[in-house]
This record gives sequence, C-alpha cells and structure tokens, in this order.
Amino acid sequence: MTKNILVTGGAGFIGSNFIHHILATYPQYRITVLDAFTYAGSIENLPPDAQDAGSDRVRVWCGSVCNSDLVQTLMADADMVVHFAAETHVTRSIFDNLTFFQTDVLGTQAIANAVVKYAHRIERFIHVSTSEVYGTAETPAMDEDHPLNPASPYASAKCGADRLVYSYWRTYGIPAVIVRPFNNFGPRQHLEKAIPRFITSVLLGEDLTVHGDGSAARDFVHVEDTCRAIAALITAPADKVVGEVFNIATGTDRTILGIAQTIAQTMGYDADRISFVGERPAQVERHTGDWSKIEGRLGWKPLVVWDSGLASTIDWFRQNRPWWEKQVWLRRVPITTRSGRIEYH
Ligand SMILES: NC(=O)c1ccc[n+]([C@@H]2O[C@H](COP(=O)([O-])OP(=O)(O)OC[C@H]3O[C@@H](n4cnc5c(N)ncnc54)[C@H](O)[C@@H]3O)[C@@H](O)[C@H]2O)c1
Repeated sequence: MTKNILVTGGAGFIGSNFIHHILATYPQYRITVLDAFTYAGSIENLPPDAQDAGSDRVRVWCGSVCNSDLVQTLMADADMVVHFAAETHVTRSIFDNLTFFQTDVLGTQAIANAVVKYAHRIERFIHVSTSEVYGTAETPAMDEDHPLNPASPYASAKCGADRLVYSYWRTYGIPAVIVRPFNNFGPRQHLEKAIPRFITSVLLGEDLTVHGDGSAARDFVHVEDTCRAIAALITAPADKVVGEVFNIATGTDRTILGIAQTIAQTMGYDADRISFVGERPAQVERHTGDWSKIEGRLGWKPLVVWDSGLASTIDWFRQNRPWWEKQVWLRRVPITTRSGRIEYH
C-alpha cells in the first residue's frame, strides 16, 4: 500500500540523501517535501522528479515549518513524518541565533502539534535531533543516557526540540522516535561544514583552516548509513522504537586536524597548507557515539568504511564543482570572540 512521508528540510544535506535513498529503495513510499529553501536548501539536491509538478512520487512545498497552518495542511494526508528541517551550523548560531530558536524549537512545536492533531493517521514521527545535545563526552563512548549539556546556541535549540518531542510522546502518546546522529559526511553537504570545506579548499588551492589546535574530535558517520537507520526506524515495529532515543554513530572519533591531514594527503596536497584560526567558543572536545542500542533493536550497523566514504565524498566534490561554487562565499562565518575580536571561522 502506498504511504506518504512528509519530509521537512528535504532540500538540505541529510534530507535530500534520505529522499534519494527512499525513492531508490522503497517503491511503496511517496514523499512530500516541506522546505523553506534557506541558504542551506536547494532544489538541485532533490531528484529531477521533484521539479515536475505532476510527479506521483515527490511533491515539493516551499514554506516554513513555523507556519502551523501549512504544516497542518500537509500533515492531513501524511502517514509518516521525518523532521529534518533546522538551522544547523554551530558557528552561525554564535553570531545570529534567532532563527535557530525559531526554526529548531518553534518549528518542531508546530510539527509536533500537527502530529497530535492527526494522531489518528500518523503512524510514525521521526524527529532528527543531534549528538550535539550531549556536549563534550563524559564517558569513552556516549550512549543515549549521557547527560545533555548542549554547548552552543545551535545545540541548545536542538536540545529544546529533542525534549519537546519527548514530552509530547509522554503527554499525548504520539508515535515519536528521536534519533541523534553524530557528525555526518557525504555528497551534497554544505561547504560551511568541515569536510566539504577542507575538500573544496584543496580544489581551490587554498589553505585548509582548522579551529584551535585541531584536537577537537568527532565521530563521523556516512550519510548513507544515517539514511538506512532512519528508514529502518520508520518500518520497525512500534513497540521496539516508539518513545525511544537512538544514536546513529560509528564509535570511532577522529580529530579535526587528523581529518584535514588525511584529506590533504588523499588529494595529493601539500601538508604545509594547513593553517589555524582561533578556537571556536564553547568547542566540544570529543564526541564518540555508542550505537549498540539501535544495533540491538534493529540490527543496524554502520557499513560505510571511513576511507572509502571519504574517497567517494572527495570524488563527488571533484565532479560537482558547479553545485558547490555558489556556496564558496558562505564558508567563512564572522564571530565576535569574548575579547571583542572579530574572527572568520
Ligand atoms: N549534518 C550533520 O552532521 C548532522 C548531524 C546530526 C544531526 N543533524 C540534524 O539533521 C538535520 C538535517 O541536517 P543537515 O545537515 O541536512 O542540514 P542542512 O543545513 O543541510 O539542511 C537544513 C534544511 O532545512 C531547511 N530549513 C531551514 N529552516 C527551515 C524552515 N523554517 N522551514 C522548513 N525548512 C527549513 C533548509 O532550507 C535546508 O534544506 C538537522 O535537524 C540537523 O540538526 C545534522
């Protein structure tokens, strides 16, 4: 039977990869995209079908998740919801956080209210949270019970949304599942994020700039693995997943300096072209995810090996220069440090 999935933020990095994955793998699903097409979203990220108003597999609505009337109209014929839409760049949240709280918190409230209203037909509501809600790792691997100590305005907005969805599950019994992906990488990621920025810096013949001494470490999971995890969560039996939080991670952390060095080496670039800017305020020192819960419940495990995932990502950026050239000016974000100095991060 055909099911309609409402995908918010589907024109961004993970959302668009998810839509490509669903259309290629599940013929029984139709997609409705709700995206505000901010600087981070692009129609080019979506399959060609999306630009065809008569497509029977994917419909696109340009609008905000904060518009509750629009959200309710689209929710009225949805069977499932995957909510990606958010402002997502930590550094940007340091100099302009208003839209982060509007979209990430109030947008999630509008989505959750509509799920309550149409609870009789919504089978699953996947809320895409983030590992950033944890702050710096207090344990070797962070499981879903790790304390929530969000360190940036982005992380605190996402933390508010994460707990909002949990409270709606407790209060109204909506079929919510919260996923906390660790750092993602892969095709179509915006140039403001570290891995695309490093790769395109090499392609542009520039220095690769690293925050602080580059010792901050992250657990990078390939976007294809994240998409498989979310797809598994929408089809899983309710008693295994509803009301639960799931990490999506690999369990391996890598320093940002190490990643810059690996990219330079893999692309045959001069290692001396790595330079350093000031540390990002409230930098999270380490993220390492424990993914045993989702493995135990659904048998999911990360399949994309770091080396090959990085190589194919580099390849994608080599072959898609017209896609990313338009974003070059958005890579460096000005922030005012506590000492009052303006730095470009
Ligand atoms: N990229 C990562 O490493 C990562 C890791 C963990 C969690 N996440 C979460 O996954 C989700 C997707 O992240 P991403 O990296 O694909 O983000 P992205 O910035 O690439 O895309 C965000 C999308 O949301 C849209 N959007 C923004 N404001 C909107 C609004 N008011 N209404 C409707 N659409 C709006 C944008 O136009 C864009 O298409 C986010 O919720 C993010 O917090 C991302």
